[in-house]
Amino acid sequence: MRMESVGCQVDEVDKRRRGDLMAKKKNAEKVGKAEGEDVKKNAKSAEDVKNVKDKGDAKKDNAEKEVVESFKVIDLEDIPHVGAAIAEKLRSAGYSTVDAVAVASPNELSSAAEIGESTAVKIIAEARKLANIGGFESGDLILERRKKVGKIKTGSKDLDNLLGGGVETQAITELFGEFGSGKTQICHQLAVNVQLPPDKGGLNGSVIVIDTENTFRPERIIQMANAKGLDPDEVLKNIYVAQAYNSNHQMLLVDNAKELANKLKKEGKNVRLIIVDSLMSHFRAEYVGRGTLADRQQKLNRHLHDLMRFGELFNAAVVVTNQVQAKPDTFFGDPTKPVGGHIVAHTATFRIYLRKSKGELRVARLIDSPHLPEGEAVFKVTERGIEDR
Ligand code: GTP
Ligand code: MG
Repeated sequence: MRMESVGCQVDEVDKRRRGDLMAKKKNAEKVGKAEGEDVKKNAKSAEDVKNVKDKGDAKKDNAEKEVVESFKVIDLEDIPHVGAAIAEKLRSAGYSTVDAVAVASPNELSSAAEIGESTAVKIIAEARKLANIGGFESGDLILERRKKVGKIKTGSKDLDNLLGGGVETQAITELFGEFGSGKTQICHQLAVNVQLPPDKGGLNGSVIVIDTENTFRPERIIQMANAKGLDPDEVLKNIYVAQAYNSNHQMLLVDNAKELANKLKKEGKNVRLIIVDSLMSHFRAEYVGRGTLADRQQKLNRHLHDLMRFGELFNAAVVVTNQVQAKPDTFFGDPTKPVGGHIVAHTATFRIYLRKSKGELRVARLIDSPHLPEGEAVFKVTERGIEDR
C-alpha cells in the first residue's frame, strides 16, 4: 500500500521531499510491475471485506453493501477471451479492473490490447456481465443518497456561501487557477476541516490525498491545525498521502484509495474527502501533441468517473486542482478555461476559478454550476490558513 498516514512522519515526508529523485525514478519503473500485483492485493482485500460481511453487522446500510459489492474484485483473466497476454497489455494501458474494460469502447480496447475489434466487442460484452458498472437506480434511492450529502466548510464564509454551504460530498469540486492562486492551500485547509465535528464545519472524517506535484506539506497542516486548536499529530494521522509518479499510477491510486477507505471504514474512520492535487499535471506532461489528445481525454474521463464513484460509495467530497496559465496568447481567449477541456468541465459538479488579488486576498468565482447562482467570493490566505477577508 503506497498510501500512508503522515502522522508522526513529518521527518519521513520531509526526507522524501528533499528530492530523492533516484528513488522516484525507480519507483516510477516499479509502478508498471506493481500493477499486476495490485490486482492480486485487491483480491485479498475482497476477502477481508467478505469476512466482515460474514460476521454480519446489523448496522450495515445500503451504501456499505454497495461498497462490499464493488469489492468482489475479479481478475482481468476471469473475463472470457482474455488470456495472460491480453490481460498484461490491458493493464499496462491502464485498464486495471474489469469495470474499466466494461466501459471501454471497442476501438479503444482493440488498440490497447492489440486485438481485433470483434474480439474487443466480445471482451467488453463479457466484462459487462461481470462488472459492477451500475445501471438504473430508482428516484427514491437517489433521493435517499442525496439526503446524506455533507458539506465541508472552507474557512471563509464568503467562499462557503458561494458553494451553497461548503464543499459537497458525492460531487467533484474543481479548483482551477494560475500558480499561487490558492488551490493547494484550500486543499490543505479542507484536509484539516473535514476532521472537525459537523457543528464546527467538518464531517468527522479522514482524508486521502493523491499528490502529483509533491506539494503536500505536513508543516502547513500543523499551522492550520494549531490555528483551530486541534492536536496537529492527531490531524496528521488522519491524512493519508500517496505520491503519483505518472498518470497510470495516479489512476491506480484511486483503486488503492477504495481499498484503504474500506479498511478505515471498518475501524470507524470514514474517509470523507479525497483530493487530487493536481489532476492534470501528469496527463499534460505525458500526452503532448494533438494526436494523443483523444487517448488522454479517454483516460481522464475514466479517472474522473472512478473518482466520482469513490465519492458516491463513501459519501466523500472529491476535490481536484487544475492549473491555468495566464499566457499572453490566451489574452484574448477565455482565461477561465482550465487544462483538460470539456471532460473535466462536464464531470466536475462545482468549478471554482481562483485568482490572486492584493496581498493575501484571493477571489473565487463559481463557473457553470447547475444549481447555484454564479458569483464571486473574496477570502484570505494567511499563516492560519483560509480565512474571511
Ligand atoms: P500551483 O500549485 O503552483 O499551481 O499554485 P496553487 O494555486 O496551488 O498555490 P498555493 O495554494 O500553493 O498558494 C501559494 C500561495 O499561498 C503563496 O504564494 C502565498 O501567497 C500563500 N501562502 C502559502 N502559505 C502561506 C502562509 O503561511 N502565510 C501566508 N500569508 N500565505 C501563504
Ligand atoms: Mg498547488
